Amino acid sequence: MTSAALRSRAWKFLELVTTPLLPSDYLDLVSPLRAGADLRGRIEAVHRETDDAATIVIRPGKGWRGHVAGQYVRVGVDVDGVRLWRAYSVTSPTSRADGRITITVKAIPDGKVSNHLVRRAKPGTVIQLDQATGEFVLPETTPAKVLYLTAGSGITPVMGMLRDTKLADVVMVHSAPRKEDVIFRSDLHDLVADKALTLVELHTDTDGMLDVAGLEELVPDWAERETWACGPTGLLDAAEAHWAAHGIAGKLHTERFRPTVVVAGEGGEVTFGKTGKTVEADGATPLLNVGEEAGVLMPSGCRMGICFGCVTPLKSGAVRDLRTGEITEAEDGVLVQTCVSAAAGPCELER
Ligand SMILES: Cc1cc2nc3c(=O)[nH]c(=O)nc-3n(C[C@H](O)[C@H](O)[C@H](O)COP(=O)(O)OP(=O)(O)OC[C@H]3O[C@@H](n4cnc5c(N)ncnc54)[C@H](O)[C@@H]3O)c2cc1C
Ligand code: FES
Repeated sequence: MTSAALRSRAWKFLELVTTPLLPSDYLDLVSPLRAGADLRGRIEAVHRETDDAATIVIRPGKGWRGHVAGQYVRVGVDVDGVRLWRAYSVTSPTSRADGRITITVKAIPDGKVSNHLVRRAKPGTVIQLDQATGEFVLPETTPAKVLYLTAGSGITPVMGMLRDTKLADVVMVHSAPRKEDVIFRSDLHDLVADKALTLVELHTDTDGMLDVAGLEELVPDWAERETWACGPTGLLDAAEAHWAAHGIAGKLHTERFRPTVVVAGEGGEVTFGKTGKTVEADGATPLLNVGEEAGVLMPSGCRMGICFGCVTPLKSGAVRDLRTGEITEAEDGVLVQTCVSAAAGPCELER
C-alpha cells in the first residue's frame, strides 16, 4: 500500500472515532495556526498607543500570503459569543523579520469590536483572519513627490506605507484632537528627525479643523503631489471635491473606513426567513447590523459596499441603498448588499 493510501485509511479511521466532530476539529484545538486550517491568527501582544487606541500583534497561521503596505485584513473576533468581522489596515512593514503582523485599532463610542480589541483582547487569543486585500497602496514605481493626508485612525494604512517604503520627498498632514491623541506620534517624530518625513501636525481642539481648500498654505506644492488620504468622511469628501475642482482627481487616492450614508428613510419589520427571526429596524441601520444584532449568521466582507461579500436574496418587500437612496423591490433572484441597505418598509431576507 502506498503511503498516501495509508494516510487516507488512517484519516478515515480517525473520522470514525472522532465522530460527530472531524479530526480537523481536534487539530484546530491543539494547532489552530497549522497549514490547511482555516486562516487564523494568534494575538501575541497588545501595545497601548493612546487612551483609546492599541496595536495588536498577530502571528498569522501557515496559510498567510503576506500583504502589500496600505492593505487591510479582515479579522473575525468573538464578542459575547457572537463572531463579528471587521476590517483593519496592516500597520507593520512587509519585511518584518518575525513573520508577525500588526493592526492598530481605535475604540469608537459603542463600537463592539474596536472596544473589545483595544480594552479586552489578551495575548494567546486565537482570532479568524482573511488574506490581506485593498487597493490603497503605492504604485510599483514610486512617485517623486507624495502627500499623505490623514486624520484620527486614518493614519493606520499610511503608517504601514511609511514603515515599508522609504520615499525621497514625502509630506504628511495629520489631524487629531490633541497631541496625546496622535497615534504613532513618537514614530512620526523619529521619521522627521531622520529627515524621512516632513510633518504638519494639527491639533483640531486648538488649531481648528483642517480647511482642505486652504491646504496650499501648509503644503504649497500639494497639487504636484500624488496623494493618499484616509480619515473621517468629512475630510475625504472635502478632499475629493477640492482635487476634482482643480482637475487632478486622478492624483488623489482615498481609503474610507465606513460608507457615506446619504439617505435614511422609514424602517420596517425585517424577517430573516431561514432563521425564523423577525425584528423591527429603523431606516438608517444596515440590514447586516440588524441581522447580527438579532443573532442571525450574516456573511460580510468590507462592510462598506465594495466587496459584495454580504449579498443576500431579498424575498419580499423593499430595501433602500443608504448611499444613493435607491429603492430595490423584491423580485425573482434579486440580491441586496446588506451592509449598505436598510429596510424600506417590511421586508424578508433569505438568511
Ligand atoms: C478598509 C478598512 C480599513 C479599516 N482600518 C481600520 C484601522 O486600521 N483601524 C481602525 O481603528 N479602524 C479601521 N477600520 C474601521 C473598522 O473596520 C470598524 O469599522 C471600526 O473598528 C468600528 O467597529 P466596531 O465594531 O467597534 O463598531 P460597530 O459596533 O460596528 O459600530 C458602532 C457605532 O459606530 C459607528 N461606526 C462604525 N464604524 C465607524 C468608524 N470607522 N468611525 C466612526 N463610527 C463608526 C456605527 O455606525 C455605529 O453607530 C477600517 C475599515 C475599513 C473598511
Ligand atoms: S460587506 Fe462588502 S459589500 Fe457588503
